[in-house]
Amino acid sequence: MRIVLGVTGGIAGYKAALLLRLFTESGHDVTVVPTSAALEFVGAPTWEALSGKPVQTGVFENVHAVPHVKLGQSADLVVVAPATADLLAKAACGMANDLLTNTLLTARCPVVMAPAMHTEMWLHPATQANVATLRERGVTIVEPASGRLTGADTGPGRLPDPDVIYEAALAAAASGTRRDGAEKVPVAREQGPLAGRTVLVTAGGTREAIDPVRYLGNRSSGKMGFAIAAAAADLGAKVTLVTTATPPADVASRVDVVMVESARAMREKVLEAEPDLLVMAAAVADFRPGEVATSKIKKTHGPGDDSAPVITLVRNPDILAEAVAQRDAKADSEARRRVIVGFAAETGDADGDVLFHARAKLARKGCDVLVANEVGDGVTFGQDESTAHLLRADSDEVVTVGPAPKSHIAAAVVDLAASIFTTQ
Ligand code: C5P
Repeated sequence: MRIVLGVTGGIAGYKAALLLRLFTESGHDVTVVPTSAALEFVGAPTWEALSGKPVQTGVFENVHAVPHVKLGQSADLVVVAPATADLLAKAACGMANDLLTNTLLTARCPVVMAPAMHTEMWLHPATQANVATLRERGVTIVEPASGRLTGADTGPGRLPDPDVIYEAALAAAASGTRRDGAEKVPVAREQGPLAGRTVLVTAGGTREAIDPVRYLGNRSSGKMGFAIAAAAADLGAKVTLVTTATPPADVASRVDVVMVESARAMREKVLEAEPDLLVMAAAVADFRPGEVATSKIKKTHGPGDDSAPVITLVRNPDILAEAVAQRDAKADSEARRRVIVGFAAETGDADGDVLFHARAKLARKGCDVLVANEVGDGVTFGQDESTAHLLRADSDEVVTVGPAPKSHIAAAVVDLAASIFTTQ
């Protein structure tokens, strides 16, 4: 689930860090949106490290990505904890002067607020009226707890424990209710930034047949491609997943799955589809056996015979490069608007670091975005976490995500691709 965690300027902000942990550890993709006052209490590095994503407070950073609209539109759940009296007042009035208040106005998903403030502020008629307005509009308010406040005083106004907010938030999300009316309808998907777009994602490592029994393969698990397919579906896209590995049920139920084995079969599916967004997350074998034996290659027997067959390899097509060439050869503007994302598993070496090699590969492949995964001993393949650098062909800017769950990296990749459509 895509969660926006709004944090406002209260001393209880540190408890939101624990709440964030509860969300991320249960596999949710969380974007933290602190107000500038919140950053006076707990700084941006804490939120970035715990969420694996950059944080932003205003609406004038990363304007090309239109975050003030997109975050709210694509969220499955917005949680504000702690919510100060100031935030409750702004939300009740529909003000939109920073990223969090903009997000609250654009969100159509369930919204949960956990107020925290001094007892006098909480009990003030203005705050109580604002809370009543928000409740009427469908916002779930988690009642503040009573107890010791910041100073020596006690009373209602304490932020409840993170697990209480966590449970309330999940319950609100499970209710699947929109907050723009009393009517309970499922959360709308048609409004996502990729609504109406076709997206094709490749996943897994190709298998290149040696004979009817054996193949040449690689260690790719397909997890990154699955996460990207899910992230694109989250944003409203019609997704086709061309994969060598079987996706989990929660992904398969939301996308069209096309199972393939070899690079050549994958190539055929990719080139015939011509999707609006192509994400080549598969580990495509660069080589395949030049000849495939029609029956199982047998061991030979005989005194002193330890011979083994020699398998000659030939080059496989570079699907990504061909997809770029196919798009660029089309003069019509539709084809030019298509976005192509490539992946690269990179290590630094004597010639340059990961980014140096990634920039060179981006230029060589001609795609719009290159996602460079840092690889090394046991890193990336089959793991749930990795570090990725997102490079764009039209900018020197690099976004680094991680070490973070693949779902976070996938969300960042799909967001970046969606932002390219928005700015075209
Ligand atoms: O050149 P390299 O294999 O590092 O490039 C990786 C990127 O190119 C990935 O996006 C991968 O899916 C794609 N690729 C491809 N066809 C190949 C080899 C790689 O599309 N034969």
